[in-house]
Amino acid sequence: MSGAIESVLNETRVFTPPDDSAARIPDMAHYHALRKRFDDDFTGTWGELARQHIHWHKPFSSVLDDSDAPFFKWFADGEVNMSENCLDRHVHAGLGERTAIIWEGESGEVRHISYAALLADVCRAANAMRQLGIEQGDRVVIYMPMIPEAAVAMLACTRIGATHSVVFGAFSANALRERVMDAGAKLVVTADGGWRRGKVHALKPSVDAALEKGCACVEHVLVVKHGGNDVDWQQGRDVDWRQALNAQPDICQPLAVDAEHPLFILYTSGSTGSPKGIVHATGGYLLWSILTMQWVFDFRSDSDVFWCTADIGWITGHTYSVYGPLACGGTTLMYEGVPTYPDAGRLWKICADHGVTVFYTAPTAIRALIKAGDAWPKKHDLSKLRVLGTVGEPINPEAWMWYHEVIGGGRCPIVDTWWQTETGGHMISPLPFATATKPGSASFPLPGIFAEVVDLEGQAVGKGQGGLLVVTKPWPSMLRGIWGDAERYRDTYWQKFDGRYYFAGDGARKDEDGYFWIMGRVDDVLNVSGHRLGTMEIESALVSHAAVAEAAVVGRPDDIKGEAICAFVILKQQASDDLKSELRAHVALEIGPIAKPDDIRFADNLPKTRSGKIMRRLLRDIAAGREITQDISTLEDHRVIAQLQAKD
Ligand code: WT7
Repeated sequence: MSGAIESVLNETRVFTPPDDSAARIPDMAHYHALRKRFDDDFTGTWGELARQHIHWHKPFSSVLDDSDAPFFKWFADGEVNMSENCLDRHVHAGLGERTAIIWEGESGEVRHISYAALLADVCRAANAMRQLGIEQGDRVVIYMPMIPEAAVAMLACTRIGATHSVVFGAFSANALRERVMDAGAKLVVTADGGWRRGKVHALKPSVDAALEKGCACVEHVLVVKHGGNDVDWQQGRDVDWRQALNAQPDICQPLAVDAEHPLFILYTSGSTGSPKGIVHATGGYLLWSILTMQWVFDFRSDSDVFWCTADIGWITGHTYSVYGPLACGGTTLMYEGVPTYPDAGRLWKICADHGVTVFYTAPTAIRALIKAGDAWPKKHDLSKLRVLGTVGEPINPEAWMWYHEVIGGGRCPIVDTWWQTETGGHMISPLPFATATKPGSASFPLPGIFAEVVDLEGQAVGKGQGGLLVVTKPWPSMLRGIWGDAERYRDTYWQKFDGRYYFAGDGARKDEDGYFWIMGRVDDVLNVSGHRLGTMEIESALVSHAAVAEAAVVGRPDDIKGEAICAFVILKQQASDDLKSELRAHVALEIGPIAKPDDIRFADNLPKTRSGKIMRRLLRDIAAGREITQDISTLEDHRVIAQLQAKD
């Protein structure tokens, strides 16, 4: 257990929410009333909300189809278009001049894009994609920096019924190829490069390298010229984004698709195998992105400036940088660059310069900024902030307190939102003007969400007890499956409790007051700076190096990143320090820099049980430098422990 979790367990402070009668859910009575609506009429309530918040081309008659559980369908006979809900309906409501996206580049360049301008660009991009042969159901991979064109590309796909799959720009060419191939993408949208720490980080060469090794499915690469770096150009395959868009009319009728139409695929790590393509459907995801914006952030589309710092390569960026705020008709901020460039005040300067009112980030970023010192936020006017959020990993109470006092001036409620790539949107979170918060607790399930902490038999644990986190009823924004692997979907999420519950992979605890405290993954998934990585993926990357015979990867607590990556490696050759850096570079090449092991320890053997299973709990203790409590009497070779304990 990490230090952060231990401190969470001793936490007893409670913070009453600020009064705001204008809030959408102004008190707990409203929260309970909303919950009760779902208790009394589950499908009726979902149906009513879906009719109220979504513009449907064809209304649905069926709310939930559970005839083929766990392959649930929501609003299945309804027809809808995502981009129309995010753009056209606001323009038609007279909000064309409202700013949809505020973009700031690392160099300080700023763009304000109105709803009317965004709609026009999305139409041009959709037409350009069609001209390149993209039709409904085709997959488009988006490998981009944090620039407005990334959002335009996503929305353009949805306009014509193409399914996008955004791949985080810091993933390597190999990781990109794996995803392009799995999705069977026909088009890749990328940029020449993006800005990081004052320099251009090239992206197009990774696409070239990925496609060079054979991705026969890809016909074209659409390239945004942004970084100004020289790139190779493959005639016939590569197309200049701006030229292609300029050649198109700014009108493109939105294509109505079934509510269940796959809106996007997003790859995420699991405890076994290669990354899974999580599939999300259009209608249910759209509904939940709107409702969670309104309930959890109390988002006010006419006055808020909303900033979610996540990259669009992650689910947080999908739901809360792009779809949620735009579907609500509000203003979302995008920043391309490093949070500490040119100094540790950058995020706070952006908040002050653009009057950010709702700010959403990860605990790892907060911890890094705490280290930089209070002087940075104090230099900037943060008085417009009214709601703060965190996501991605448990937040330690110290970081929570700092966020509350130094950033929120003691006045802003903090919403600690628990959710996953698979859930599409928030699941467990305080409501900013209703829930009394406890630092480190995500508090209660949202209305409509039936989450529980259960024991191994699936029985709900009592107050004050720990267990496994499950969701006991389907919800509209739930994943619809794993791309191309229905069985894996069933096995991973539904098998554990015989199809009754969705198993999240997290451990949790319920306290005396019924608050949920998320304790982190109970499987072999790591959470490094809020990024999800499978230990097995990193192990596979290591053993693909010629010098490595065997590898075991575990997490160890880290003050800033939450978890650091520790690799135990058995070599086929002599160990050396050079080899350690070579292995790190190799992992970066196979997956991306975020997966580089922090520690690499060489040994002659890995501790295994008699049946040959690697003793991972033992390795976790060793990696953390903790006392070994496990019974190791079955270990064949005790010397291996001493070897593994030896640090760099
Ligand atoms: C895993 C999902 C959801 C967007 C970001 C991550 C952990 C997420 C919290 C939180 C404690 C959290 C869980 C979860 N997690 N939010 N508020 N408190 N842990 O999405 O990459 O799919 O990772 O992140 O372990 O299972 P993801």
